[in-house]
Amino acid sequence: MKDKDNTDDELSSSMTGGRFKRYAKVTSAMGGLAARLAGEKYLGIKINREQHASDLRAALGGLKGPLMKVAQILATIPDALPKEYVNELSHLQADAPSMGWLFVKRRMKAELGENWLTQFRDFNKSASAAASLGQVHFAEDNQGQKLACKLQYPDMGSAVQADLKQLKLIFSLYEKYDSAISTKSIHEELSDRLKEELDYSHEIRNMNLYRHMLSDYNEITLPNPIESLSTNRLLTMTRIDGLKIMQFIAENSDIEIRNQVAMNMFKAWYVPFYKFGVIHGDPHLGNYSIRTDGGINLMDFGCIRVFRPDFVTGVIELYKALRDGNEEQAVNAYKRWGFENPSKELISVLNIWANFIYQPLLEDKVRLINPSASGQYGKETAEKVHEELKKIGGVKPPREFVLMDRAAVGLGSVFMHLKAKLNWYRIFHDLVGNFSETELEKKQRIALNKVNLS
Ligand SMILES: Nc1ncnc2c1ncn2[C@@H]1O[C@H](COP(=O)(O)OP(=O)(O)O)[C@@H](O)[C@H]1O
Ligand SMILES: [Mg+2]
Repeated sequence: MKDKDNTDDELSSSMTGGRFKRYAKVTSAMGGLAARLAGEKYLGIKINREQHASDLRAALGGLKGPLMKVAQILATIPDALPKEYVNELSHLQADAPSMGWLFVKRRMKAELGENWLTQFRDFNKSASAAASLGQVHFAEDNQGQKLACKLQYPDMGSAVQADLKQLKLIFSLYEKYDSAISTKSIHEELSDRLKEELDYSHEIRNMNLYRHMLSDYNEITLPNPIESLSTNRLLTMTRIDGLKIMQFIAENSDIEIRNQVAMNMFKAWYVPFYKFGVIHGDPHLGNYSIRTDGGINLMDFGCIRVFRPDFVTGVIELYKALRDGNEEQAVNAYKRWGFENPSKELISVLNIWANFIYQPLLEDKVRLINPSASGQYGKETAEKVHEELKKIGGVKPPREFVLMDRAAVGLGSVFMHLKAKLNWYRIFHDLVGNFSETELEKKQRIALNKVNLS
């Protein structure tokens, strides 16, 4: 399908028009939400949250955008937003208003120049996948290499700004009203990550970082960025194909291969973390796929978190503290995590959550990630933590907590779906057995320098 017809340069206005209308709607729905929350607090007006949440869904329509990513992350932090709203936002489907071919041609010309199409043997006219800030087209270069081109919608910078502003308003109102969590640092973290995500050249550097960190692991495949066909708003990379996790589960009842997939997911997330202090903050179903041999295709390097080495020490220290029931060590560990002057009461509430997350790593035996799991991974524990936090007057979670927690809950949920039975303790010990913060600090510095991220 070689289409050199880029003479027709008419702007496909349906997409832009539709998109802006949608954004206007979202903005007013969010504004309305903020007003109603304020009404509830200051005027004692009871709002029907279920009803309001479904109004919000209607207003959001099929939009998949920055808000959706935010919602996916927030859904794993107990009590950051009223749960009805998080539910609505997380249900947003991946059916973005797509850019039509005429519009895609115009955008591609703006990114790669007049003769952009001659640089491809083949370029699919319709999008193969939705991205949160754009869409992905499959293509082939002139040597026949299969490619995926992530092309950003226009004006996403201002859309992201607008979303973040709305989110801040909602956060601050909700916080005053009944939240047990101080959301300032959560907002700061999400803002920084979303702003980075706008710049696809930053994503290329992240991708190169991951290629470096996982170079010894053949069981994990990463795309190769094609820099000559990429810009800040267009990311061209090699295409990697596999099964979506739910499809894989439906087709593979064999426990051996399921365990292998779980093990490889564990490596894809925690080798970068424990060896380099880096985490992929978005273990969303669309961001990886399963190879036929049980290996993992890892995608989407827009939301990557680099931690100070001391934080990783804190994560391991907390493990030891829980294992040995050492309260003093737990206090030190939480301080390293970034919790300011944690009181005794706060420590005991935080331990409820930590015990849930670390539990599988504490037992030297083959087991399910959560033997008593029913429904959503971590939900019951999160609700309990919420109640307890309220009693003690709330908490201000450190920024680092946001994506670390998101990764742990996201992966836990994958392991639960896979029904994987593994010795998590052994896997964890193999990875951190000879941990040294100095060694990590050195590795991290070399890796970041290598890809120009320092
Ligand atoms: N290298 C690739 N090969 C094949 N499909 C890809 C590749 N990169 C992305 N995709 C597809 O495009 C979707 C969106 O890309 P992604 O990088 O996740 O965007 P976003 O950061 O907006 O979530 C992915 O969920 C996946 O289905
Ligand atoms: Mg993605």
